[in-house]
Amino acid sequence: MTALNEKTINITLKVWRQEGPKVKGRLETIPVAGISTHMSFLEMMDVVNEDLSKKGKVPIEFDHDCREGICGCCGAVVNGTAHGPEKGMTLCQLHMRKFKDGDMIVVEPWRSRAFPIIKDLIVDRGALDKIIQAGGYVSVNTGGAPDGNAIPIAQETAETAMDAAACIGCGACVAACPNASAMLFVSAKVSHLALLPQGKPEAAKRVIAMLKTMDTCGFGNCGNHRECEAVCPKQISISHIARLNREYMKAELFSEFK
Ligand code: FES
Repeated sequence: MTALNEKTINITLKVWRQEGPKVKGRLETIPVAGISTHMSFLEMMDVVNEDLSKKGKVPIEFDHDCREGICGCCGAVVNGTAHGPEKGMTLCQLHMRKFKDGDMIVVEPWRSRAFPIIKDLIVDRGALDKIIQAGGYVSVNTGGAPDGNAIPIAQETAETAMDAAACIGCGACVAACPNASAMLFVSAKVSHLALLPQGKPEAAKRVIAMLKTMDTCGFGNCGNHRECEAVCPKQISISHIARLNREYMKAELFSEFK
C-alpha cells in the first residue's frame, strides 16, 4: 500500500564523479527508476548507491551527518543551485517531490579554489575551520550563566546576534558566489560575537585575524552579487557583511591589532 500522495518517479542523474583530488572528473549519467517522492534527496542517493554496489560499481561519495539541516555537512550544487531548488533548506532537507517524472538532475560538488575536491561530491571545507580557529571564539573570562543573564541586552540586538549564530558553516555561500567569497560566513561569525557584550573585548583582533585568514585561504571578496544570501539554508542576511566591513574599518582605524 502506498502512503498518502506518494508517487514514484523515474529520473536521470548526471552526477560528478572524481576519483581523487588530482584526477580529472566527469559527469556520469545514471538512470534511476522508481524513486518515491516521499524520499529525501539523500535517501534517493542512498538508493542509487545501493544499486551501484549491487552491480559491483563504486558508490557516489557525498557528505552528510545529521540529515536534519543542523550540522552543515551535506551540500552539493543541484541543477546549478547550491543545496538545490528549495529556499532556506539544506540538501538533506530537500525532498524528491520537488522533482517531476522524467527530470534530469545535475549534481556537482561545491566549486571553489579554497574547497579542493576530495572525491566525487566531497570537498575539503577545512578552510572554514581555519577561519574559525583564527578568531571565531571568545577566550576572555565571561563568568558563569548567571553573570550572562545579568547583562541587559536589547531584544533586537540579541535577535540579530542569534540570526547570525544560525550559520551552520556549510559553505553554500562560497559555492554560489561568483568570487567564491566566504564573506557571508565570516560576517555571520563576526557579527554574532561583536554584537554581544562577551564578544566585544576581542572584536577588533577577531575581525582582522579572520579576514586575513579568509584571504590566505584563497577565498575572494564580496562583490554584492547576493548569491550567498539567496542560497543560504539559514537565510543569513548580507546586512551582516555590512557590519563586518564596519567592524573591520573600526579595527583598522582605532585598534592596536592592525
Ligand atoms: S546532513 Fe547535517 S545539515 Fe545536512
